[in-house]
Amino acid sequence: GKVAVLFGGRSAERDVSLKSGSAVLAALQRSGVDAHAFDPAQRELAELKQERFDRVFIALHGRFGEDGTVQGALELMGIPYTGSGVMASALGMDKWRTKLVWQAAGMPIPDYEMLTERSDWVGVVQRLGLPLFVKPANEGSSVGISKVKRVEDLPAAYAEAAKHDKLVLAERFIGGGEYTAAILNGRALPVIKIEPANEFYDYEAKYLRDDTRYLCPCGLSAEQEGEMQHLAQLGFALIGGQGWGRVDFLRSEDGKPYLLEVNTSPGMTDHSLVPMAARQAGISFEQLVLQVLEGAGI
Ligand code: DAL
Ligand code: MG
Repeated sequence: GKVAVLFGGRSAERDVSLKSGSAVLAALQRSGVDAHAFDPAQRELAELKQERFDRVFIALHGRFGEDGTVQGALELMGIPYTGSGVMASALGMDKWRTKLVWQAAGMPIPDYEMLTERSDWVGVVQRLGLPLFVKPANEGSSVGISKVKRVEDLPAAYAEAAKHDKLVLAERFIGGGEYTAAILNGRALPVIKIEPANEFYDYEAKYLRDDTRYLCPCGLSAEQEGEMQHLAQLGFALIGGQGWGRVDFLRSEDGKPYLLEVNTSPGMTDHSLVPMAARQAGISFEQLVLQVLEGAGI
């Protein structure tokens, strides 16, 4: 049947989604799927029904795409779609509430605090140490995130994050490396280690620079990698994730993995991580996209 690839959208990650979606669309078409582009920023979702699309591949990132809103509309229209449902999408978009769920389940996460404009900045630094991260709770692709090295920079970092969301969190820095584990239909793919060209894996290091290094195989022992994959599967299942996604980690210098966040509609650009992990597992981009599409159900 006819497949709509949803991409573009109205979030701060629109440009990333345009790249993800074009790659997905081209791969589906190469595989002989009757796939069509659909940008919800330019068209009404109701047209999906009028034009008799049978399934939707969601390649939107961020708000109005990864956060449960589009998923809810598709549920109401009765059109099967890829990835997580309404609840897991909404939860995964919110880094604070994801942490609450993981904390309640005893998962290892970095210490954090919620910030307000009246926070005691010195106290925050005393409790979390420096450097620390300041992030909007609801954003993707590192939009609005700062790595703060001096207490006097904390108010400006707060103000920057607060432009994107009223919920802002400060998070302890864990210095033993950044890792990520993709999930495909319930199973974690090989872990990737990220060595960012910048201070951390920010928007520029993610999409604009070519000197960020990605290691896959990631250099961990089989046992350590297996532990991270297990935590990724568990962390994804705890928020109710379905189909595919990606769980991001930091590792401490003494080798302990900490869960950072989950992405329920991960990037599929030529710089993106899920395609890289799939390749390491012997799954081509075309096969990956088809396997994600096969997971589409209501
Ligand atoms: N939020 C971006 C697209 C990612 O997680 O890959
Ligand atoms: Mg994210």
